[in-house]
Amino acid sequence: MTRSHLLLAAVLSAFVSTSPAAQGSAEAAKTKLSMCIGCHGIPGYRTSYPDVYPVPKLGGQHPEYILSALAAYRSGERSHPTMRGIAEGLSEQDMADLAAYYSAGAQSGTTPPPANDKAQLCAACHGPDGNSPTSAFPRIAGQHRDYLYQALQDYKAGRRKNPIMAAQVESLSKQDMEALAAWFSSQSGLYVKR
Ligand code: HEC
Ligand code: HEC
Repeated sequence: MTRSHLLLAAVLSAFVSTSPAAQGSAEAAKTKLSMCIGCHGIPGYRTSYPDVYPVPKLGGQHPEYILSALAAYRSGERSHPTMRGIAEGLSEQDMADLAAYYSAGAQSGTTPPPANDKAQLCAACHGPDGNSPTSAFPRIAGQHRDYLYQALQDYKAGRRKNPIMAAQVESLSKQDMEALAAWFSSQSGLYVKR
């Protein structure tokens, strides 16, 4: 097994043992969306604190990743102050409902993406075009370029603490990260869901 296969196995087994407890309802989420829509529902909306970059697209994201991201804000593993405050105010049921709502309808492309050398490094987990085939890994296809670049920089600087992604970005230069962010953002996948 290669290093990335070992990592993959570790992630998948961790994932299986922590399946979400609450059953989500996209219908029930409609009364809760007002908490999110002012940022995630506005195309191109940018956060201004602590850094300026676009708010990530949630439409079509894997529900398990939405739950794990909210849990990471709540625990402080992801430190964004606004999202931390929001996640702290959500119940398990709210999170499950919102994850069910936002995850519906990923817009994957039908034609295979053109080959990109660097992106091959990411394919084992995120899929060849960034539409991760398993819900253990977030979709990154179609995400805002500047958000992807910010996330990669945050992993590299240790502001976002994830051992798997930290290992992935270790050998990437600023130029590599810019090129990867540009390439994955130009694939079809995630979208701004109102
Ligand atoms: C004030 C603006 C704002 C509001 C309101 C808001 N968010 Fe966010 N959200 C952000 C920003 C900015 C980020 C990216 C933070 C970072 O870099 O970690 C984010 C990140 C996320 C992520 C992680 C996405 C990823 O790709 O990793 C999820 C999931 C999320 N928000 C869900 C929600 C939900 C659900 C609500 C409503 C309950 C909500 N947010 C309300 C601004 C907002
Ligand atoms: C071994 C599996 C694996 C490989 C290979 C991998 N990733 Fe990831 N990636 C993950 C996991 C797991 C997460 C979620 C981590 C977290 O919760 O912060 C992630 C998260 C991300 C995110 C944050 C997404 C978001 O919505 O915030 C970006 C961007 C990303 N990866 C880009 C890449 C790029 C570019 C490559 C190739 C250079 C790559 N990844 C290779 C497993 C992998």
